[in-house]
Parts: sequence; structure tokens; C-alpha cells
Amino acid sequence: MSKETATRPTKLYFSIVFTVIFFISLILLICWLSLRPHEPKFHVHNFSVLGLADHGLESARFVYNVSVRNSNRRVGISYDTLTTAIYHNGRPIGITPSFNSFDQEPKTTLYISHVLTGGAIAAAAGSGDTWKEIVGDRGSGKVEFQLELRTSLRYERTMWDLRRHGVRAKCQVPVGGDGALLAGYVGQECPS
Ligand SMILES: *[C@@H]1O[C@H](CO)[C@@H](O)[C@H](O)[C@H]1NC(C)=O
Ligand SMILES: *[C@@H]1O[C@H](CO)[C@@H](O)[C@H](O)[C@H]1NC(C)=O
Repeated sequence: MSKETATRPTKLYFSIVFTVIFFISLILLICWLSLRPHEPKFHVHNFSVLGLADHGLESARFVYNVSVRNSNRRVGISYDTLTTAIYHNGRPIGITPSFNSFDQEPKTTLYISHVLTGGAIAAAAGSGDTWKEIVGDRGSGKVEFQLELRTSLRYERTMWDLRRHGVRAKCQVPVGGDGALLAGYVGQECPS
């Protein structure tokens, strides 16, 4: 028997195995691309500073309303504790835990709304400069604030992504002299 006839079935065997592995991988890749969960999307609907005309950061109240959309058709989302941070010109002026862990069903939108007062913005109360800057900006009709929502999440009912993911949704929330979110920013997405 020649050497060639002995190896031919082995070659055929391996090419079949490799073809099968290739197609299984391709199918898994397509499944992963179409079934992997989408990240929730955050949009700011309201942000308002009450008492902006008053005497200091200690007496101001920050109110926000942000929507969270889970666009997945079957995948639920389980969120960990949500923390709110507020910045003025990129400098932190307040941070507080806002919500305990919560779950979100597929294809639903949640509205997250919270008021930050006194204690939550105490870190900034010591800094008279921040308040002076805010008062100065108010005169010009635009005070730049940034709102950041931090949490971590896990996708439910999926076999494709079992990790916990950190999330930081950053909303640009400049307000006018009256403390209300500037009209052009209502409904804007908060990239995460
Ligand atoms: C935004 O929130 C403030 C404070 O709660 C409220 O007075 C105002 O009406 C809200 N604006 C909208 C558009 O809902
Ligand atoms: C948040 O905004 C949505 C959409 O504008 C509104 O339906 C909802 O009542 C608001 N929630 C609060 C607490 O203001």
C-alpha cells in the first residue's frame, strides 16, 4: 500500500472537522452579534437649580429627571445602587447615593428623579469661590453644570454577557439665570 492512500482519509477527516468548527464559530458569532444585550440609554428631561438667586450653595436645591431606556427585547437589566454627582465647570460640587438596587424589564423606560440638598452638596459649601463663579455665570445667563449618574449593571436572562458593567452617564445640564435647564438641552442623551 502506498503512503498516499493511507493519509488521504486522515486529510479528509481533518478538513471535515475544520469545516464544521468554522461553521459553528460563524453561527455563534452571528448569534452573539444579534443577541448580545444593548446598553441602556440615558436622556435628561429636567434639571433645575432652585435657589440659584439665593445666598449660597448650601441653600440651593438641585432637581433632576433622567430617563433610562432598556431597548432589549428579552433581556432585563439589574442595576446596583445609583449615585448622583453634580459638577460645576467640571469640578465636583455634590455627590450622594440616590437609589438602592433596582431591576428594569425589557422594552421599558424608567424615570429617575432626585433632589439634592444641603448635606449632599456640603463638600462644595466650604468653597466660596465656586459660589462666586456661579453667581458671575448667572449674570451672563448660562451656568454650566454636569450631572453624572453612576451605577453598575448586570444583564438578566442572557447567556451572552454575564459580567457586571460599570456605567457613568454624563449629562450636560447648563441652566439659565432662572436656574432652569436651557431649552436646547431638554431630551438630550447622556453618553455613558
Ligand atoms: C423641572 O423641575 C422643576 C423643579 O421641580 C419644576 O419646577 C419644573 O416645572 C420642571 N420642568 C419641567 C419641564 O417639567
Ligand atoms: C420626568 O419626565 C417625564 C417626561 O417628561 C415625566 O413624564 C415625569 O412625570 C417626570 N417625573 C418627575 C418626577 O418630574
